[in-house]
Amino acid sequence: MRERGEKIVMLTAYDAVTARILDVAGTDVLLVGDSIGNVSLGYDSTLPVTLDEMVVATRSVARATERALVVADLPFGTYEAGPEQALASAVRLVKVGANAVKLEGGRTRAQTVQALTDAGIPVMAHVGFTPQSVNALGGFRVQGRGEKAADRMVADVQALGEAGAFAVVLEMVPEPVAARVTELSPMPTIGIGAGGRCDGQVLVWSDMAGMTQWTPRFAAQFGQVGTALSQAAGAFAQAVRSGSFPAPEHWFDA
Ligand code: KIV
Ligand code: NA
Repeated sequence: MRERGEKIVMLTAYDAVTARILDVAGTDVLLVGDSIGNVSLGYDSTLPVTLDEMVVATRSVARATERALVVADLPFGTYEAGPEQALASAVRLVKVGANAVKLEGGRTRAQTVQALTDAGIPVMAHVGFTPQSVNALGGFRVQGRGEKAADRMVADVQALGEAGAFAVVLEMVPEPVAARVTELSPMPTIGIGAGGRCDGQVLVWSDMAGMTQWTPRFAAQFGQVGTALSQAAGAFAQAVRSGSFPAPEHWFDA
């Protein structure tokens, strides 16, 4: 797609009902993101997400998806020890239907990316703001500001690409830096809060669809699905309370 100049469209999905809708809508990549922690599991970060939780979500998304590439996040604590740990974790996600895995970090992950790739598991990298390192990064901050930091990001992406990564997410990176990284990257870049010159874009589906009032500045709401769902639930409640639901067409005769 990058060679053809076609933008890569990626959204998160965490369950079958959502994955089916996003897949049929023509999304290229469905990411079973560890943002499931914030969106679906009620955690206040991605750090508590377990591999077992990712396995359930990945199996659900993979079963419902016919067209899109399914990429599953390796959650915090399941790959940082090195290639052996990463391979054991990634295998569990591939066994339930992931076509590829994603992991966070720069050149320090190159050996791990190489090991997974050697094992036949495609790897998507993730640099810039990496939410699993929020404590080390000191909060939700744009990454790659300044010439040194930008150079470091270019080198990270090149090392990850040489190790075999097939794509890289750039999160919260200044627009000109993301453009330069994209230009020098051996593999496609997929941006979130990284401007329009990446090879693709990713959003958390609930931000994209307007499920909640608040969304990060880099997201846009392409629908008001939260409002629509709330209205549907309100209409159901009213119909039950007034006795207009169920009607004869909804019940069974003797
Ligand atoms: O978990 C996630 O949703 C992600 C995307 C923001 C890239 O990693
Ligand atoms: Na993630």
